Amino acid sequence: MSSTLIASNRGPVSFILSDDGALTMRRGGGGLVSGLSEVARGDDHLWICAALSDGDRSAVRLAPEGRIDRAGYDTGPVRMLDIAPAVFHRAYNAVANSTLWFVSHLLYNTPFAPTFDTRFHREWESYREYNGAFALALAEEAAHGAKVMIQDYHLTLAPAMLRVDRPDLRVAHFSHTPWAPPEYFSLLPDGIAAEILQGVLGADHAGFLTDRWAAAFMDCCEAVLDARVDRAAKTVEFEGRLTRIGVHALGVDGDALVARAFEPDVESHMLAIKEQVGDRRLIVRIDRTELSKNIVRGMLAYREFLAEHPEWHGKVVHLAFAYPSRHDLPEYREYTAAVQRCAKEIEDEYATDDWDPLILNMQDDYPRSLAAYRMADVLLVNPIRDGMNLVAKEGPILSPRCVLVLSREAGAAAELGADSLLVNPYDVSGTAAALHEGLVMPDKERAERCTRLRRAATAMPPEMWFADQLAALT
Ligand code: G6P
Repeated sequence: MSSTLIASNRGPVSFILSDDGALTMRRGGGGLVSGLSEVARGDDHLWICAALSDGDRSAVRLAPEGRIDRAGYDTGPVRMLDIAPAVFHRAYNAVANSTLWFVSHLLYNTPFAPTFDTRFHREWESYREYNGAFALALAEEAAHGAKVMIQDYHLTLAPAMLRVDRPDLRVAHFSHTPWAPPEYFSLLPDGIAAEILQGVLGADHAGFLTDRWAAAFMDCCEAVLDARVDRAAKTVEFEGRLTRIGVHALGVDGDALVARAFEPDVESHMLAIKEQVGDRRLIVRIDRTELSKNIVRGMLAYREFLAEHPEWHGKVVHLAFAYPSRHDLPEYREYTAAVQRCAKEIEDEYATDDWDPLILNMQDDYPRSLAAYRMADVLLVNPIRDGMNLVAKEGPILSPRCVLVLSREAGAAAELGADSLLVNPYDVSGTAAALHEGLVMPDKERAERCTRLRRAATAMPPEMWFADQLAALT
């Protein structure tokens, strides 16, 4: 029995099954895992997550009571739930990623997702079942009065489900994504919009990354549930229960990041990049190939910058790392193809025998990303909408002279906006102008801005962020 439990869809590690049946362990990706891995190292936290792949399912089958063997990885105990693949697929791909993610990131303008038809209502049943599996496992594993930290949009129903069986627990829910404003959120079918809000309100504490997302959640509770919202006290009262709303702006552990970024494998990647680009200036971006990250408009901005500023031809390279993500979804596969097409068009238009204006790299490689951060002159982070965006925080920690071109729609803009070049992510010309402004910014100003950015980025490292939420439950 554990006294602190974490529940999230993706866990700290995942497994790849090779053809000969061997399992290789990898670190999980994304902001949620980066933040929580730092805090869930000790044996006193149990992390419950879903088996995401055949590799994970094989690892679970080898594990007593679902506790996976994470030898060699610096993480506390992990229990993986082997949810029936069809149920998992409908809950994760269809509901969480094709619907809730699209709603919270305002991605309503894509041709197919989200769509609410009889199929969706069947998928919703699986989402309930998936949340039920987590609630059950948490109820089994939690000691009396334990603190349970439920993460993200995959698990919005679990807090209320868990409360039914275990009213003794202290439950928090944390959203790593933005929360949609009521006029968007209520495009979900009525009953479902209400069920999600009531699910989260099953928690004693509902946490968000910024004031903006917390305010949107409270607005939705008022508009959809007619709940009693006290914005000054940050509470929501519904059917006789009170949920406190908290804002916890996840930051980066600067010392740990710097230590990792100065290891020899990163240095070799720096040499390799240097060989490719020479002394040219570098505009860097590092993202999952994710619709909300706005990679295509970022490239169009780079193209417009090259068109407007021929003086930079041959003197700058755009290093775009766009790592694979959610390839089971057609929207993501199409988006990946669009990113590749756009990169090729820029190459076709501008490349010369001795200059590659844009290097697109789609193979996930963490040490190479760290190398790129260290070498960046400009870091482009232009999401349409983002819960926080830790890339924006990591860059200035690792490069003492990098100018941050940052979308005003990223949660990170609340803390980093004053010292970055803020852009409207839809405004390609504005972004192109910011890229240029970043490149010509005098060294002294870059360094001063970077110092302040670094301070803001490390203000709330994961351990403090987590401790803050635990304290809010007391
Ligand atoms: C975001 C979400 C996380 C998710 C991550 C990666 O950061 O908030 O919950 O884990 O993206 O996405 P994936 O679908 O690969 O887990």
